[in-house]
Amino acid sequence: MAVTAKPALDAHRVRADFPIFEQQFHGKPLAFLDSAASAQKPRQMLDAMRDFYETSYANVHRGVYQLAERATEGLESAREKVRRLLNAPAAREVVFVRNATEAINLVAYAWGMNRLGPGDVVLVTELEHHSNFVPWQYVARRTGADFRMIPLGDGGELLLDGLDELVGDGSLKVVAAGLVSNSLGTANPLERLTAWARERGAVTVVDAAQAAPHREVDVQALGCDFLAVSGHKMCGPSGIGALWGRAELLQEMEPFLLGGHMIRSVKAERTTWGELPHKFEAGTAPMAEAVGFGAAIDYLTEVGFEAIERHEHELVAYALERLHELDWVTCYGPPPERRAGIVSFNVDGVHPHDVAQILDLDGVAIRAGHHCCQPLMQKLGVAATNRASFYLYTIPEEIDRLVDGLHKARKLLG
Ligand SMILES: Cc1ncc(COP(=O)(O)O)c(C=O)c1O
Repeated sequence: MAVTAKPALDAHRVRADFPIFEQQFHGKPLAFLDSAASAQKPRQMLDAMRDFYETSYANVHRGVYQLAERATEGLESAREKVRRLLNAPAAREVVFVRNATEAINLVAYAWGMNRLGPGDVVLVTELEHHSNFVPWQYVARRTGADFRMIPLGDGGELLLDGLDELVGDGSLKVVAAGLVSNSLGTANPLERLTAWARERGAVTVVDAAQAAPHREVDVQALGCDFLAVSGHKMCGPSGIGALWGRAELLQEMEPFLLGGHMIRSVKAERTTWGELPHKFEAGTAPMAEAVGFGAAIDYLTEVGFEAIERHEHELVAYALERLHELDWVTCYGPPPERRAGIVSFNVDGVHPHDVAQILDLDGVAIRAGHHCCQPLMQKLGVAATNRASFYLYTIPEEIDRLVDGLHKARKLLG
């Protein structure tokens, strides 16, 4: 039987699409190893936004003239692209928001605030980004529900064997978990968690901010109820993200933000809400941003999510191999088979911020800090880590430059 191997990703060719790499920083080519914070932008996405502003710009939905219809078509076709990206059953289940944080706040407020109460249990993971932690902690406190954490094992992976004991006599209402940890790169086995939550009648809220840029995400296969993504982490513009939610749930929820566009009728006595998704999209939509988000999805789809995932897997395996050669570097998180293109580490005796600053002088951009994961840092027993994260434009030479920089940091400050 003939096997047709999918072509590997050519990161050097991909880089040519990204104008940022034409610049130098401190006289060196940019080694951008901070894509987990936000990804760089390809020309195709930038062109799509400029073209929209130049040829199709007007406010959407309410206009009856041709230009407004064209703008509306731009917004709605972007919605359809997000639907396809997530394999969502219907485009009306896709709500445009500012980012993943807003998507999760929408669910926490519009679903959680009205449905949680004493005796209920809200579960998040110890690995969670603050975006999927703090809103739930806050809503639990406001409603009297119990807020608990699914613990993390020493290898940086969730311990899913004691879930029933964790809930005890409480009534499980929400399980909020990320697909991929932004801090350790851990790829969480969420299908198992969502199946368990569903059996217990709980709603699942998946943070896919770090997964959707790098691999296929299928809300139906995941069996979740809500899922959040950010456009800027997947080569799209900042200021746009999406919430996917099951129509039945979105329909029965109260709105989150109130004002123009989200209403059916407004009278002094009473206001009624518009249809999905408009009920959750108050005010003027991020139109050009949506068009850019759609173009970024087209771009990533064209490169191929399988190829991107494979490329990042090779990079993370190489990075861990190189870092493990250094007995003065501590790496955190699971083996490459169960992690995305993210490595967190510390250099013995050198503060992460100093490491990052020394690397910057060589044009190597990494992040240092708690990565919006303070409960995880507490678990690791550190205040901060260094984090290098990879994407479709990352090349192995940049990992070599990272390792060279770490030697320099240790020599200077270790
Ligand atoms: C796992 C994860 N969730 C949520 C977020 C929040 O994304 P945004 O800042 O775009 O809302 C981030 C951003 O770093 C993240 O890495």
